[in-house]
Amino acid sequence: MTLDHVGIATDDAAELAVFYEDLVGYEVVHEEDFDGLQVVFVDTGNTYLELLEPLDDDSTIARFLDQNGPGLHHVAFEVEDCEAALATARELDVGLVDEEPRPGAWGHTVAFLHPRDTGGVLTEFVEH
Ligand code: CO
Repeated sequence: MTLDHVGIATDDAAELAVFYEDLVGYEVVHEEDFDGLQVVFVDTGNTYLELLEPLDDDSTIARFLDQNGPGLHHVAFEVEDCEAALATARELDVGLVDEEPRPGAWGHTVAFLHPRDTGGVLTEFVEH
């Protein structure tokens, strides 16, 4: 299993993507409007950056930006079976943000774990 992506909250995903391209040559490989967000995936070679820009004030990313400003939002681990990964998390008494897998960006199946039980970092499972 690999680190699937690192999620970064930003006020301007397009501008941040250009910055990464200028800085280290990373290129955008996927963009979509998803769930009130502009989501931009940048390919780093062995993982992705997921740039998350709120398109409305109600999204969790808009609230995150209000409270914390732009920056690291979550890390995402690739799993073969999201349902099985959630069962393992339950066995380990990890609090679940999502009790069941749900549709995520880029057509993936995802579920989030509570940061209080994951070293203070919001953690996502991603099944491709
Ligand atoms: Co993510």
